[in-house]
This record gives sequence, C-alpha cells and structure tokens, in this order.
Amino acid sequence: MRGLVLAAASVAAMVLAGPASAQSPIVIKFSHVVASNTPKGAAAEKFKELAEKYTDGKVKVEIYPNSTLYKDKEELEALQLGAVQMLAPSNSKFGPIGVREFEVFDLPYILPDLATLRKVTDGPLGAKLLKLLEPKGMIGLAYWDNGFKEMTANKKLITPEDYKGLKFRIQSSKVLEAQFRALGSIPQVMAFGEVYQALQTGVVDGQENTTSNIYTQKMHEVQKYMTMTNHGYIGYVVVVNKKFWEGLPTDIRTQCEKAMKEATAFGNGQSVKENDDALAEIRKSGKTEIDTLTPEQDAAMRRAMEPVYKDVASRVGQPLIDEFIKETGGASH
Ligand code: LMR
Repeated sequence: MRGLVLAAASVAAMVLAGPASAQSPIVIKFSHVVASNTPKGAAAEKFKELAEKYTDGKVKVEIYPNSTLYKDKEELEALQLGAVQMLAPSNSKFGPIGVREFEVFDLPYILPDLATLRKVTDGPLGAKLLKLLEPKGMIGLAYWDNGFKEMTANKKLITPEDYKGLKFRIQSSKVLEAQFRALGSIPQVMAFGEVYQALQTGVVDGQENTTSNIYTQKMHEVQKYMTMTNHGYIGYVVVVNKKFWEGLPTDIRTQCEKAMKEATAFGNGQSVKENDDALAEIRKSGKTEIDTLTPEQDAAMRRAMEPVYKDVASRVGQPLIDEFIKETGGASH
C-alpha cells in the first residue's frame, strides 16, 4: 500500500513537474525591465521564437517586458526562488545578490568599443565571471549587448563642474555610485521602471543610459539635455534558474542552448543599429538638445572619473580590474 502511495505520488510529481508531457509545454518565464523594441527586448523575442521552434513547441517562452512582472531587484529574487526561469539583468545589477565582480564592466571608459568588449565576454574572463553565479542558484548563459551610455539632465552637461550637486539616478552598482561621486553629484539607486517618473517629477535631475533605453522610456521628453559621452557600457548577463535548467531533459536543454546562441548573435548583431535608430528618433523629436564634447572636454571628463578605479579597487578587486584591462589589450581609459 505504502509502495502504491509512493508510486502514485511520484507519478503525480512527474505530471506536476511535467517536463516531458506532450500536452503541457515546459514554460520558461522570461522577465525583463526594458521595452520590447530595444536590444534586450529583441534578443528575448528571438530566443522565444527559436526555442519554441527547435523544441517543436515542447518549450513555451513567456516574455514579461517593461517591468510588468518584476522590477530590478525583485526579478533576481524571483529567479532565485524559481518564480521565473530566465532574466537578463545588466552587469550593474548583481551586487545586491552578492556578486560584485560584474561591476568591473561599469568602470568609466574601460571599454573603447564593442569589439574590445567581446574579447572579455568571449574569453576566459567572461567564462570565469559566469561561474560566480552558480553558487547563487543561477547559470549565466550568455552576454547580451545594449551599448554605450550617454548623460541626460535638465542642465547642460559639458564640463565635470556641470555635474556638481546634481542628483543622478543610478543602477545598483557601487562603481556607478563612485563615478557620480567623483563628479561631485549625488547618486541615487533606483529601479529602471521608476526612472521616467523620477525625472518628470524632479526626484532626480538626471541619469545615464543608452539611447535605446532613453527613447523607449521617453526620458528625452522630460530631460532638456543629452550629452554624447559614451563613458560607460550597458550589457546583460542572461541568467536561468540552475535547478530548472539542470532538470530539463537533455535534448530540450540542448535545443534551448542552440536557440540562445543564435539569439545572442542576432541581438548583438543589431544592438548598434537599435541605439542609432533611437538616437535619430530622439533628434527628430526635438525635445532634447543633443550635445557632443570636444576632445579637450572629453579628456576632462576622463580625468575627472579616473579616481573611480582606485575608489572601487577593494570592492571589485584590483586583480580582476588588471585582468580585465589586460584582456582588453589595455586600449581603454
Ligand atoms: C538600467 O537600469 O538603466 C538598465 O540596466 C535597464 C536595462 O535593463 O537596460
């Protein structure tokens, strides 16, 4: 009898978990905070299309964009609890769960271009960083690009002095905090989904982001100035709940890995264009003055942010910073 109950219970458990059942597809809930028409949004849609195709519908990917399901911090907790299976938080957002090392990507001017970035993400350092996520109950599957950040505010931002005393919204990264402190600004951590309103109501004076994020969140409608500083990079780590991923039937996981690889190539192949298109739209709207810096002004900004490297060495780790710079060929700041 006991055996029968156990057998029944395990059948019930299999049905409930149901990975291989034909009727009930395996659902991958993918939560993110940006609009669908952004580099991350588009890559997520591509992953959905390919994963569903390669598994003949045995996998269903449900995408929840624009913080509709969870905001920044909540989404990482939800992933760890298994309430969602997949996310793509920016490198700047892993500190609160105890993985500070991804903040190395936030160092000002550390990456001169995307080709240099690729040397890190596609190389041994990129793989080593992903491994740090496993003890946190997640697996890092890929690096997705957004692009380089610009500064926006209701005040014209040309020299480092212009930043003094202004409140800037930042992502939850100590490197970004140090960056704005180096400029004499007041950094304030805030979820991405709250930025537009904070800018509109004057809770903060400015923020830094890529043009695709600025445009799709309509930040340009509530910021009078945008300066093309390209001082930092926003990219993502696609993470999946470890237990879920390892529990998938091997053939299904293999197909999903293939879908992820192709979605990554697709997304990273068009991120520059998405940001360029967004910049063109912002320009066309006429709502924000777009400023560029002369080489001298650019040099002054670089000098002002240089102390950040020392300020954060103990947090991010000097050996990691050195390794990162070595892998980039030392071509950066
Ligand atoms: C931000 O919070 O500014 C960005 O990381 C949002 C995103 O996911 O691109």
